[in-house]
Amino acid sequence: MDSKEFGLVFAQQLTGMEDLHYGYWDDSVPAISVLYMKQAQQRYTEQLIDTLEQHGKPSMKVLDVGCGTGVVLQALSERGHQVDGVIPAPHLEKQVRERVQTQGYNSQVWGCTMEALPVVSLEGQYDAVLFSESFQYIPYRVALEHAWQLLKPGGVVLVCDFFKTEHTGDGQPGDRSFGGGHKYQEFLEWLGQSDWRCVQNDDITAHTSPNIRLLDELLTLRVAPAMTTLNTYLSGRHPWILAFVKWLFRKKLRKLKFKYLSGHRSQAVFERYKTYRRLVLIKPS
Ligand SMILES: C[S@@+](CC[C@H](N)C(=O)[O-])C[C@H]1O[C@@H](n2cnc3c(N)ncnc32)[C@H](O)[C@@H]1O
Repeated sequence: MDSKEFGLVFAQQLTGMEDLHYGYWDDSVPAISVLYMKQAQQRYTEQLIDTLEQHGKPSMKVLDVGCGTGVVLQALSERGHQVDGVIPAPHLEKQVRERVQTQGYNSQVWGCTMEALPVVSLEGQYDAVLFSESFQYIPYRVALEHAWQLLKPGGVVLVCDFFKTEHTGDGQPGDRSFGGGHKYQEFLEWLGQSDWRCVQNDDITAHTSPNIRLLDELLTLRVAPAMTTLNTYLSGRHPWILAFVKWLFRKKLRKLKFKYLSGHRSQAVFERYKTYRRLVLIKPS
């Protein structure tokens, strides 16, 4: 398990959250508040389905790549689509399998990465391939070469995920406080030279970045003061043990402090270094 996968599984186990994607904040969500997080996440799922249905058929065979706990797989199935899932994290795979079994769906669940999917045996079987916040984890050439093989002619790929902007690496204070994402310009150049037909490319950064604001508030207003209290308590009770542990994990602690508690993980910083895109690609007939 790499550190990104660990972060996802850890957050899921800690919060019991079913949606592993950002919320989509638009006028249908009453306010930007943790109170409406669930609603914004449901809105995100809705916009995925609306986009797929707009470009696809009324009843599709869909492959949900990196399907998390299976929330989107379930929502798509409820709309009458037949949905298979790819899920490399065993803890999440278990939840997807339970969901599929409870709901009685005829879904195939692949417990592997997209890279390891046996695409040759699945050639031309799908109407749509969905990457909902999973695209950044997969080398994009492999992701789209495999999707090409899996799709029928005229089939659709929907990518909803963030990419790195041209500001990445500019050395400003917030630089590198957010990881993840392929380099957007480099990806676009590659896409332009490929045989994919890009029919939609929306910048939805402003609809997703409020998540970062909420998380930043949680970290700076709740987690940081709690950590200070814990530090004060432990320095009084076990000063030597605390000093030793801090020394042992000094590099990791420095990194975590910079990433989460330095105040650089703001909405503005996210909007500078990331561009969140909703991309629809068609495999020409
Ligand atoms: C942020 S979660 C998104 C989950 C889900 N698609 C959603 O929208 O709620 C990222 C997902 O990508 C999956 N993932 C990570 N690396 C992957 C890979 N190489 N191939 C396929 N899925 C991958 C993770 O296991 C996780 O389920």
